[in-house]
Amino acid sequence: MNTLYNKHILLGITGSIAAYKSAELTRRLKELGADIRVVMTTSATRFITPLTLQALSGHPVNTDLLDTDAEAAMGHIELARWADLILVAPASADFLARLTAGRANDLLSAICLASYSPIAVAPAMNQGMWENKATQDNINTLQQRDIHFMGPGHGSQACGETGAGRMIEPEQIIARTLPLFTSGALSGKKIIITAGPTREAIDPVRYISNHSSGKMGFAIAEAAANAGADVTLVCGPTQLTAYPDSIQRIDVITASQMYQSVMDNLSDCDIFIASAAVADYRPGLQAVNKIKKQHDEMQLRLVKTPDILASVASQTDAPYTVGFAAETENVLEYARKKRQKKGIDMIVANKVGPTSGFNQDNNELDVIWQEGHIHLNLNSKKTLARDLIQIITEKINAIDTTQNTGLKTR
Ligand code: C5P
Repeated sequence: MNTLYNKHILLGITGSIAAYKSAELTRRLKELGADIRVVMTTSATRFITPLTLQALSGHPVNTDLLDTDAEAAMGHIELARWADLILVAPASADFLARLTAGRANDLLSAICLASYSPIAVAPAMNQGMWENKATQDNINTLQQRDIHFMGPGHGSQACGETGAGRMIEPEQIIARTLPLFTSGALSGKKIIITAGPTREAIDPVRYISNHSSGKMGFAIAEAAANAGADVTLVCGPTQLTAYPDSIQRIDVITASQMYQSVMDNLSDCDIFIASAAVADYRPGLQAVNKIKKQHDEMQLRLVKTPDILASVASQTDAPYTVGFAAETENVLEYARKKRQKKGIDMIVANKVGPTSGFNQDNNELDVIWQEGHIHLNLNSKKTLARDLIQIITEKINAIDTTQNTGLKTR
């Protein structure tokens, strides 16, 4: 079973006798397919060795905020962006206090402060510490900030006392972790997503294409499927694997094939997201044989490819349409104009640059619709995909509500 395949989980371990259970937790999370990076506080290393967790996670364990070697390999901001979920188990009373206060005085709390990803904690402490008003106030504050609490359990404790404060068992933590990656927010909705580049042949050995990796579109497909949608992913040539298995993947090569494939699947589609970098032009004629090198100059006649996004948007009963705009300058202005020109509901603009855009794991987006705009800070494409799906879900729900009440349509 690979339920957590492709999920990046940063496992934080703090100083508690329950830290020995984190070894089993790491093993189980790995078994479910998750990629685990372990960050330990100094006191956690007194209970269980980093070497154990390194062996189980398959990655070096990070412990020190000021370790230049570790920072050079994967720095604390990079770890914060990498994580789809930060799971702190065990979470000590002191760690909860640091998290509440927004401290960044050690690696784990600094990562939590810098991250936009969900955080879950499995508390472990003496029952008196748990009951204490200070801890309870911290818990209230953290819950208001949407920190997920897993436990604690109730029973006899290592110190000999009995009460609430035991870390729940690894199996119970896993059972509470799985739902954090899924929701039914888009269940019953059919979504078509285009992703990756297209290839337009010049002759049997050459083609016109672009640097698109397909990572953004695949991340959107995963986020949509995890939200319960019925997802069809129409993708150009890419090395990527679509996950989860429920995604219906259709591989194409050219813009015309992508157009045809989208049109063939469009009936009952609720949302269309065009993240593919479709070639705008293709060679007018594809040479049957390899073109020989002859003259100093040669001319290639190009003809326009069908605009898939604009075509979908112009259908009667069009789905909610979302396009992408990769720009190198004046991002917002160009994107707004493009949204109107193509007649689409929403456009997602990104600046193509050295740290975001094509072939990168990170991106920075501006999401623009008729009445508003939201900026999504530089983050992993997977996190941005989840945020984008959430924004689209809110828009779809608003449309469904207004249509049902007959107030207004989009
Ligand atoms: O017009 P431009 O290529 O800049 O627009 C980008 C947006 O339009 C992207 O969402 C892209 O997937 C979509 N597009 C399309 N078909 C084309 C060209 C672009 O769907 N032929």
